[in-house]
Amino acid sequence: MKTILGIIGSPRKLGNCEIMIKEISRNVTEPHDLQLLRLSDFDIQPCRGCYACLLQDDGCVIQDDFQTVVDAILAADALIVSAPTYFLGPNAGLKRFLDRGIALYRHSGQLWGKPAVGIGIAGIPGREGYTLLGIESFMKLILADIRACRLFYGALPGEVFMDASNRMGAKETADALFGEAIPKTGPHCPLCGGDTFRLLGENRVRCMLCSNSGTLRLSGETPVLDIQRSDHELFLTREDAVAHRDWLVGMKSRFKTHKDELKAISLDYRQGGTWIRPSAAAPENGQ
Ligand SMILES: Cc1cc2nc3c(=O)[nH]c(=O)nc-3n(C[C@H](O)[C@H](O)[C@H](O)COP(=O)(O)O)c2cc1C
Repeated sequence: MKTILGIIGSPRKLGNCEIMIKEISRNVTEPHDLQLLRLSDFDIQPCRGCYACLLQDDGCVIQDDFQTVVDAILAADALIVSAPTYFLGPNAGLKRFLDRGIALYRHSGQLWGKPAVGIGIAGIPGREGYTLLGIESFMKLILADIRACRLFYGALPGEVFMDASNRMGAKETADALFGEAIPKTGPHCPLCGGDTFRLLGENRVRCMLCSNSGTLRLSGETPVLDIQRSDHELFLTREDAVAHRDWLVGMKSRFKTHKDELKAISLDYRQGGTWIRPSAAAPENGQ
């Protein structure tokens, strides 16, 4: 029996994200147990950027619910990740979790290649902004294997299934979880499958999912993307992920080498500006 974890980005109970995950689960033919978590139920504090999780074995120093979510991901055989569009992007739950992601590198062996499908729900056709990119980015950076990432429209809770074709979309997504990945039909990055690009000037482009760059040209009327691996890879292979972690660890010795110079730069900015602080906060030394 497999375990599928549904990660619900929406705080709305029985909203479109939640029912879409349940519909996908109903359509997965593989016997499975569906575990669910709603990210907004969990206390996940912002990353402090201290890098302690890189350098010690016990993970992140912040005492909150982050590790509970990590353990649920580790225990799952496959993931269904959903987020609603809020202001032209996925709502903040996925990103807040992902910002703590350096603490995930120590689990890279268990995380790498977990099958995952992503679901974005937007209320207004064409107003989803970068929702799918954000969800794909979440799945890629937690080292999952993206089998499909689909957008569905529906504003009111449950509205997503007022359009019967969305049930078919849920079935196709379910089939992809343990079966054939849904291929991208439009122009996409040949390295990672991403389909969002930044134009860099002339014919150069960068893939916003894997950060590799290359060229875009037309073959007749068909856009053709030629994207090359860069020297500093993040997550095309598990070795890339491990290499990135090692590179981050190496930054510690770089920090030691340049410590005095860096301190001198920062201290020059100690004064200046008037801080507005939350009413309960204690004043910081010297500020
Ligand atoms: C704060 C907020 C911002 C939203 N912004 C957008 C938006 O930019 N584009 C859009 O298409 N829908 C937007 N929506 C609509 C939601 O994406 C839509 O209602 C969706 O069904 C919510 O999913 P849920 O039912 O799982 O919560 C927004 C909703 C909220 C509450």
